[in-house]
Amino acid sequence: MKIAVLPGDGIGTEIVAEAVKVLNVLELPLELEEAVVGGAAYEAKGHPLPDSTLQLAKDADAVLFGAVGDWKFDKLERALRPEQAILGLRKHLGLFANLRPALCYEQLTHASSLKPELVAGLDILIIRELTGDIYFGQPRGRRTAVDGHFPGAEEAFDTMRYSRPEIERIAHVAFQAARRRGKKVTSVDKANVLETFQFWKDIVTEVHAQYPDVELEHMYVDNAAMQLVKAPKKFDVVVTGNMFGDILSDEAAMLTGSIGMLPSASLDANNKGLYEPSHGSAPDIAGKGVANPLATILSAAMMLRYTLAQPEAADRIESAVRAVLAAGLRTPDIYSEGTRKVGTREMGDAVVAAITGKTITG
Ligand code: IPM
Ligand code: MG
Repeated sequence: MKIAVLPGDGIGTEIVAEAVKVLNVLELPLELEEAVVGGAAYEAKGHPLPDSTLQLAKDADAVLFGAVGDWKFDKLERALRPEQAILGLRKHLGLFANLRPALCYEQLTHASSLKPELVAGLDILIIRELTGDIYFGQPRGRRTAVDGHFPGAEEAFDTMRYSRPEIERIAHVAFQAARRRGKKVTSVDKANVLETFQFWKDIVTEVHAQYPDVELEHMYVDNAAMQLVKAPKKFDVVVTGNMFGDILSDEAAMLTGSIGMLPSASLDANNKGLYEPSHGSAPDIAGKGVANPLATILSAAMMLRYTLAQPEAADRIESAVRAVLAAGLRTPDIYSEGTRKVGTREMGDAVVAAITGKTITG
């Protein structure tokens, strides 16, 4: 099983190193090969997604990704910015289904910005369509307006669009995921205003006919943003488009206490996937050894479960993470009084120790 390891920028290198450490103690026939991506690749090779990196990702069975982005690249033309690396990988690998679980660990309920009783036991799965919508829709650009409120003025525009097959396939992913969980799908749209999302709603409703055992509810995105902080436990699977999913998944992540805990999977039609933490490159804390590696370690577990068909190994990692939390180890993002503050490397070592059966001393 070949894994392309792409650490990227900022805290990416630190957290991926810990996930690699964890993968290496599992005694599985894994072949890991590393490559540069994002700003690091721009600096080394002049492009955020060099051909060699893309080829490695295509040839591998799965991709373990850190994070990309740094303010210092903000002035580059868009095509050379670090973010283009992850967008390019999603597009070129056909990774249309983004699974972002928001799970509130028992020991971290107090770290949430919501009252503990609202988030205790929270377990939501956000399924975000990842290769369509306004993110990729053409045309886009800048031009001189010929109509609108200010004809003759400079303007910028993007295109929101979805085709029937794009909506059908993500709807199937959502209903199938719901079958394995709480059997409820909330489809989030803006059908009251946008043509694209009336179409979305119609097609999700059509696909639902094949899943009579799953409950479907439709919700406008503004209301969904509100319900997520009002009564988050009412959600099971949430399915939505690329942009709404980008926004709602960050919101859902925060409910759990720390975005530093949340893994994600981006899958193609054959369950090949790219696995990355839901958080970004956090350049403000990069290199300080304080980043939480658990989201990346849990992403490696998702990779073993979804793409590499190694559920026992995935279970071992997930139990180890619960064990280190139960032992009171906390990186600063999830620290609270009475627990023990540790750095990135110590946290990774503790997970390794929990897997290999050694005592966790912290
Ligand atoms: C995410 C990120 C990306 C996105 C950025 C880095 C392009 O915010 O994965 O959620 O907007 O999809
Ligand atoms: Mg985002």
